[in-house]
Amino acid sequence: MKRRVAILISGRGSNMSALIRAAAAPDFPAEISLVISNKADALGLERARAGGVKTLVIESKPFGKDRAGFEAVLQAALDQHDIELICLGGFMRLFTAEFTKSWYGRMLNIHPSLLPSFPGLDPHGQALRAGVKLSGATVHFVIPETDAGPIVMQGAVPVSDHDTADTLSERILEVEHRIYPEALRLLATGKVLIEGDVCKTAGSGPSENFLIAPVVR
Ligand code: GAR
Repeated sequence: MKRRVAILISGRGSNMSALIRAAAAPDFPAEISLVISNKADALGLERARAGGVKTLVIESKPFGKDRAGFEAVLQAALDQHDIELICLGGFMRLFTAEFTKSWYGRMLNIHPSLLPSFPGLDPHGQALRAGVKLSGATVHFVIPETDAGPIVMQGAVPVSDHDTADTLSERILEVEHRIYPEALRLLATGKVLIEGDVCKTAGSGPSENFLIAPVVR
C-alpha cells in the first residue's frame, strides 16, 4: 500500500510539483493525496490541480496568532484524508511545538542550505555573505525549532564568486527537486531510522562523489 502524503505549501510549489511528478511513477512508495495551502492565491494550487491532485485552502491569516486554532482545522483535514506523512514545500507558517511533536518522524521539510548552516530567512544571502564555496539543500524531519531536526538527505552545489542570491537559489532548487522525492521514498519505505538527533539510512553506503570549489583552470 502506498503511503498517503499531504504537501503543505504557501507559494509557487516547485518542490510540490517535483514530488507529484515522482509519485506518478507506478513503483513510487507514496501517493500525493492532498495539497493544502494556507494562502488562497498560492501559485502552486493551480499546478497541483493540473497534476490531478486534490487541493484545499485553509487560510491562516484569519487565525492571526492563534496557531493552535489553525492547526486544529489543519489536523481535521489531515484526518479526514487519512494522511500518514506530511511534506512541507515552502510552507511559510510556524507550527506550535505540540503540532510538530505529534507529527515527529512523519513530517519532512526542505530548506535551501546545508543545515545547520543558514536556517531561517534569506539562506542564499546568508551563504553569500559567509563566503562559503559549497552550499545546497537539506531535507529534514520537523521539530519545534525552525529549519532544524534530524537530517534525512542533503545535496551540495558549488558557489561561485559571480553568484547572486537569485543564481544560487536557481542552482540549489535543481538539487531540491532531486533530493526531496528521494528522501520521501526512503521515509515511505521505512529505510529512515532516527537515532536521537541523528537520522541514519538503512542500506546506505558512502557517496563516491567529491565536490570541490573553486576550481581554477
Ligand atoms: C524552496 O526553496 C524551499 O527550500 C524553501 O522555500 C522554497 C519554496 O519553493 N523553504 C524554506 O526556506 C523553508 N525554511 P517552492 O514553493 O517552489 O517549492
